[in-house]
Amino acid sequence: MKSISIKEILSTEPKHQEVTINGWVKTFRSNRFIALNDGSTIHNIQCVVDFEQFDEELLKQIATGAALKITGTLVESQGRGQSVEIQTNDIFVHGSADPETYPIQPKKHSMEFLREKAHLRIRTNTFSAVMRVRSALAFAVHKYFTDNGFYYFHAPIITGSDAEGAGEMFRVTTLDEKNPPLDENGEVNHKEDFFGKETNLTVSGQLEAEAYAMALGKVYTFGPTFRAENSNTSRHLAEFWMIEPEMAFHDLDANMDLAEDFIKGVLSYVLENCADDLAFLEKRLLDEEKTKPQAERSDMALIEKLKFIVDNNFKRVTYTEAIEILRNSKPNKKKKFKYPINEWGADLQSEHERFLVEKHFKCPVILFDYPAKIKAFYMRLNEDGETVRAMDILFPGIGEIVGGSQREERLDVLKEKMAALNIPEEELWWYLDLRKFGTAVHSGFGLGFERLVLFATGMGNIRDVIPFPRTPQNAEF
Ligand code: 4AD
Ligand code: MG
Repeated sequence: MKSISIKEILSTEPKHQEVTINGWVKTFRSNRFIALNDGSTIHNIQCVVDFEQFDEELLKQIATGAALKITGTLVESQGRGQSVEIQTNDIFVHGSADPETYPIQPKKHSMEFLREKAHLRIRTNTFSAVMRVRSALAFAVHKYFTDNGFYYFHAPIITGSDAEGAGEMFRVTTLDEKNPPLDENGEVNHKEDFFGKETNLTVSGQLEAEAYAMALGKVYTFGPTFRAENSNTSRHLAEFWMIEPEMAFHDLDANMDLAEDFIKGVLSYVLENCADDLAFLEKRLLDEEKTKPQAERSDMALIEKLKFIVDNNFKRVTYTEAIEILRNSKPNKKKKFKYPINEWGADLQSEHERFLVEKHFKCPVILFDYPAKIKAFYMRLNEDGETVRAMDILFPGIGEIVGGSQREERLDVLKEKMAALNIPEEELWWYLDLRKFGTAVHSGFGLGFERLVLFATGMGNIRDVIPFPRTPQNAEF
């Protein structure tokens, strides 16, 4: 069974030729106009039905959500807003959809309602547009790295180490929950577990990517990562996709240059290749913002905002400079921050990050040289002995979108840092080996793919830019 996509049909010159298409009914008006969509584009094709030609029983089966095959004549459209339409000659109903029970009716549904129908929400214009943009962005990621001499590296998903040292991991075990084997101290004996040790779902592929960068030069991972943090926010998922490039012979400046160029590159790609979906999403956002108070509306429409990112330099600021700005800021002085900024060393919360980006600099910001105390063990210590070569990229409406660093390549310094944090050397013996054999300056970063999709689509909640979100208390579907 071969049929032409609606996307192709819409750009075909109408010459009264016979065409066959398949799709799902968006609307069926006046027993005469079927708007059909097959997911290939945001646009529907209108099929005009002469109802006297068709059996009443057949027409009764045609309602929003039904899957149809339509054969007809492609003609220039009489209606406004479309160039071609189909004069229907034959209708085959693949499957009907009962209007009494089919939840996705042609009216406005709340995002919360649609999350409970995640298997069907993709049939709405909003979700289909988001997921097409997501797909294009994923392709753009691979294209960018391939074009720039990187190799795609698949990091393992099950690991024995906690790369971020935050202890927010999902355990992987095959031991009997009710009756686990115990060791001489009465603790669960993981030697008897599937892997003979404690294992978890990975929080980041970075440590393994470092091993590969120290041989292939420039590599990147793009895969699922897992965090068991109990964060019920519009920016956190328990399962999300992370992009992690890792480059030998790159210092922090080169790392920041790459991250900025990469983000601009993939956003340019969607601007060029997803114009129809972005136009739809821009309008959706404008409609949504009309319901909000003036102060919460953004100054730029979606496409303008994406172009702004592509065309302007990100502002690079040290953590120390940022703390000064925050300390002297109006919301800090007026005690408007939930976490007031009093001294150097404070961890930045998303309210601070968003103040810097949205109110102070009004552009993406790269913060770098953070206090060692608030960052992971693997980051390279600066000469001051207090700060590390870390960098976070902060985006308007999102907060942190990238976290990265230059890595500590000096064996002795790395060992000291691990000892201070009680990280046993035996656990990361292979990671230390990379510093023993041909060590070199190297850097990398992690970008949360869903946060990028969130930004590119103008959606408000990270649960709405991943097909089947996993969040605390939620793993349906
Ligand atoms: O800043 P993070 O924790 O950095 C790392 O994991 C490093 N190992 C990356 C590296 O250098 N290779 O996470 C990186 C990014 C964040 O900036 C954020 O965009 C995203 O991952 N992220 C999440 N996205 C969705 N839900 C969560 N729970 C996230 N946690 C982090
Ligand atoms: Mg981070």
